Amino acid sequence: MAETVLEAANVTRDFDISRPLLQRVLSGLPRQTLRAVDDVSFAIERGTTLSLVGESGCGKSTIARLAVGLYRPSTGDIRFEGQPLSAARAQASLRRKMNMIFQDPYASLNPRWRVRDIVAEPIRAFNILTTQKDITDRVGQLLTGVGLAPADGEKFPHEFSGGQRQRISIARALSSEPDFLVCDEPTSALDVSVQAQILNLMRDLQQRLGLTYLFISHNLAVVRHMSDRLGVMYLGRIVELGHGETLFRAARHPYMRLLLEAIPDLAMVGKSRTPVGGEVPSPINPPPRLPLPPPLPPRQRPLPNRKTHPHHHRPHRNRLPRHQRRAGVEGKQALLFLEKKKQKNFTPAARSTPDLLPRHCKESL
Ligand SMILES: Nc1ncnc2c1ncn2[C@@H]1O[C@H](COP(=O)(O)OP(=O)(O)OP(=O)(O)O)[C@@H](O)[C@H]1O
Ligand SMILES: [Mg+2]
Repeated sequence: MAETVLEAANVTRDFDISRPLLQRVLSGLPRQTLRAVDDVSFAIERGTTLSLVGESGCGKSTIARLAVGLYRPSTGDIRFEGQPLSAARAQASLRRKMNMIFQDPYASLNPRWRVRDIVAEPIRAFNILTTQKDITDRVGQLLTGVGLAPADGEKFPHEFSGGQRQRISIARALSSEPDFLVCDEPTSALDVSVQAQILNLMRDLQQRLGLTYLFISHNLAVVRHMSDRLGVMYLGRIVELGHGETLFRAARHPYMRLLLEAIPDLAMVGKSRTPVGGEVPSPINPPPRLPLPPPLPPRQRPLPNRKTHPHHHRPHRNRLPRHQRRAGVEGKQALLFLEKKKQKNFTPAARSTPDLLPRHCKESL
């Protein structure tokens, strides 16, 4: 059985966003918390990539920081190689096994240090090598491994392009010889052609060094290129988690279907597309947590054997609470619409509502 490198169980992270005490006392305001990550569970197996995708503010970076121990979960448990993350971080031998690549290659490198010192810092901090000659050789190897020259070590970060700086960040992340890398939108700040080079480099390194990635992005095309498994986030929750290609072929959740619909498609050139309507609710004041709408349209869901299925005696639909019945019906309508849209003669104008995601379907996310 494949070994689990990182496991998160029912992790929640709240931020206190209250006003200062004096202001609160004077104006009688209560404390306010924001739930950035809400009851999230996932596991990443060795040598694989779990990607998280979702729109801005849905909690991706918070999960990234939780995964390397930069934040502590408010509730729930994160384990690294079978140990609680806080215990793993306390041991240098395990701490060096995890590292992070940040979104912004301009902000994540110390502008006053030469590249050789930036890349060598983790080697020195963890006492991986001791003699100056060994460290210089290793830095040279790492720079060559990410497509730079050993002589680039003498330069400062401002002397490089954005793509080259991200290569330096990757070399630095690899210098502690990690098993597990958290990559928080590592290519978002880069030009499209450079993005492809960096992604190919990361896949290459994964194959050569057996790395495990938690890869975060808001770009579905990037995620498809990188993932073994894919989690779709919405308002702090993972609403869909599964095998990458399976989700792209038969996404079950209306929100994921909606994201897939938004990918530019050459077959749709010249045809009118209806923009997605509505706004994602604010995490400060989220909608009530209702059950998710039914996940699969009937043709894709294997029918249970009614005689042997353990939930054969399900409650009658009308015995469900009213909001659940409504979420169910409207969720099905959304999926039906997406199905119909694929048919030849169906135009978006035929729709009765401008919102791709129905109200109760959105509320239930
Ligand atoms: N330190 C903090 N204090 C208070 N609120 C925070 C803090 N960090 C994040 N948040 C809030 O938590 C929510 C999730 O933030 P996060 O940075 O994880 O989003 P994200 O999915 O990474 O977004 P993006 O794609 O824009 O990077 C946001 O509403 C943000 O305002
Ligand atoms: Mg982020």
